[in-house]
Amino acid sequence: MSGFDWLLCPQCGDGLVVEDRAARCDRGHSVDRARQGYLNLLGRAQGANADTPDMVARRHAFLSSGHYSPIADAVSQRSSGSAAVVEVGAGTGWYLARVLDALPSAEGLGVDVSVAAARRLAKCHPRARAIVADAWQPLPIASAVADVMLSIFAPRNPEDFARVLGPKGRLVVVTPRADHLREARERFGLLGIEADKQQRLASTLGPWFTETEAEDLDVPMVLAPGELVNLVGMGPNAFHDHSADVQEPFEVTARVRISSWQKR
Ligand SMILES: C[S@@+](CC[C@H](N)C(=O)[O-])C[C@H]1O[C@@H](n2cnc3c(N)ncnc32)[C@H](O)[C@@H]1O
Repeated sequence: MSGFDWLLCPQCGDGLVVEDRAARCDRGHSVDRARQGYLNLLGRAQGANADTPDMVARRHAFLSSGHYSPIADAVSQRSSGSAAVVEVGAGTGWYLARVLDALPSAEGLGVDVSVAAARRLAKCHPRARAIVADAWQPLPIASAVADVMLSIFAPRNPEDFARVLGPKGRLVVVTPRADHLREARERFGLLGIEADKQQRLASTLGPWFTETEAEDLDVPMVLAPGELVNLVGMGPNAFHDHSADVQEPFEVTARVRISSWQKR
């Protein structure tokens, strides 16, 4: 059993059988498997919302430094007891790998709309599989297969998340609070975070999920100049012209909310 056993054909919705080089369904639709191991089930070119290769490289470099480990630890703790983990908007798969490390017999599936991200995601962990797909469309994943779904700084499709989760499934969400990385935002004029983000989360998830637990987590960091450039360049600010060049260590705090949701 692996995350590839949960997939549906993006053309007809039948089950997909994934082999070394390709995946096919009983109706004869097939998709080649990329050399790196992921399956591209998007069925079209990726859109402008997909992280670029440069953003993905910066994300990989920044997360590998371990500054966000307290966030990964909190997500892992909330995923305990799960055998099937699906992360949507999984990026490089750094969090998915940390969660799978903490769940020795679980299987994982990472979904991202970015091909550059999927290349890393496919290799993030021996028990993780990767697909390219769009969270705004119905996911090519069978119903009720996941014990836990992760949404970490990523787009959410609550109706489809509820479909993919089993009846006792949990959704674990990490969102930035209004003052997330405030020190860097103020110094470099970075994009702001909507003040009502938490209310919007509650109203978009509310019809399908009930919140069972939430905590605000602050992660103070002292970043080397190159780490700060990576932190700024791995997120939405990469699409804008912001220079975060500093010569000395920079103190900044990640301020996030981690919430768990149960299906209604
Ligand atoms: C801010 S990054 C977070 C990545 C990862 N969760 C992490 O925290 O390291 C958002 C990710 O969502 C992906 N993404 C954006 N729009 C998407 C969509 N419609 N469907 C799936 N993934 C999407 C981006 O390519 C990017 O990898």
